[in-house]
Amino acid sequence: MTFDLIIRNANLPDGRKGMDIGVAKGKIKAVGSNLVGDAATEIDAAGMLVSPPFVDPHFHMDATLSLGRPRLNQSGTLLEGIALWGELKPIQTRDDIVERALRYCDLAVSQGLLAIRSHVDICDDTLLGVEALLDVKAKVAPYLDLQLVAFPQDGFYRSASAEQNLIRALGMGVDVVGGIPHFERTMADGARSVRALCEIAAERGLRVDMHCDETDDPNSRHIETLAFEAQRLGLQGRVAGSHLTSMHSMDNYYVSKLLPLIEEAGVAAIANPLINMVIQGRHDTYPKRRGMTRVPEMTGAGIPVAFGSDCVMDPWYPLGQADMLEVAHMGLHVAQLTSRDQMKWCFEAVTETPARILGLEGYGLEPGCNADMIVLQAKDPIDAIRTKAARLHVIRRGKVIASQSRKISNLSLEGRPAIVDPADYAPTENPKS
Ligand code: FE2
Repeated sequence: MTFDLIIRNANLPDGRKGMDIGVAKGKIKAVGSNLVGDAATEIDAAGMLVSPPFVDPHFHMDATLSLGRPRLNQSGTLLEGIALWGELKPIQTRDDIVERALRYCDLAVSQGLLAIRSHVDICDDTLLGVEALLDVKAKVAPYLDLQLVAFPQDGFYRSASAEQNLIRALGMGVDVVGGIPHFERTMADGARSVRALCEIAAERGLRVDMHCDETDDPNSRHIETLAFEAQRLGLQGRVAGSHLTSMHSMDNYYVSKLLPLIEEAGVAAIANPLINMVIQGRHDTYPKRRGMTRVPEMTGAGIPVAFGSDCVMDPWYPLGQADMLEVAHMGLHVAQLTSRDQMKWCFEAVTETPARILGLEGYGLEPGCNADMIVLQAKDPIDAIRTKAARLHVIRRGKVIASQSRKISNLSLEGRPAIVDPADYAPTENPKS
């Protein structure tokens, strides 16, 4: 059989080793050991991990790389970040947004991040950000899937024209309905906004992704309303609650009632560990709450949970580099996910799980999937997170679109066997006894 590309001797995220992947016409055609065939391009993965690309399910591309404009966030809080973004909006141009977004997309591709769900603020009546990111979405489509969420940053009801702007944005081609119920003027308005926004999505057959309960206030319970509306309107599998940080501080009894309701409603959760760590708990003295949502508990209840990056060098976060392994690494620490299965789960939380939440078609490594892959300088997903592995090759539709050199710090460990099972570390019998 003739292929356009064959990757030889790859370790796959599901644990299969020594696999060959044959690609033709932009699709994966065959996966197996010792694949027979020729190809114009052959890559020897040499026992390194080949994965589908990273997926970032929560980002703000209209604000990215704007750090310092017009000033820095002094308090580090969510509210100062929102105020600062409000100062930047009137002074930035459409070209500014496009230029920063394109630079970010280039960075993302170099990191093997080939699908991003980005919120776009619709509270500015000019809809400058919407126009800019729709333009960017079309420009980057050959190499990156950009999904846009109509996000009423200043409140769906709190901002006078947000309701009509959101409808306009959807009409212009924005894909997903967003919201921010905890920022509305009252809890009642927050709940009302969740209801209205879910109805807008249901009428148009769209997905929903709301910033939901991004606060340390345990009484912020809009996720309850979001789950209720998802079920009432038949939106199961199409709704995500982003952040859900109030759940960190909620009463345990209430959470024990809440989690099955979220699962039953088919609502997914997106935690943003880097941002949650710097934004939450800012009003605490000591002990300081971590503020990230209850990741292992939700996963245990059958709720899909993904990790997003949220912000890179913007009014809310001064660091970041489009590195989803960095996001997984932080999420692993904050949620204390250190068993081998949990660490593997963290890799899925920045690949397969967000791909499902975004509804990406053709994602994966099975025959018939899009030939979108990354070759990582790591033996397995855990190693990839540990070392924030170099992306040796980034492949889109069967073509190598970016390559990185190996990290020298990892070279000395490459010859060691990959850990496949905790049983490898079981105590051995003492020959002297
Ligand atoms: Fe966000």
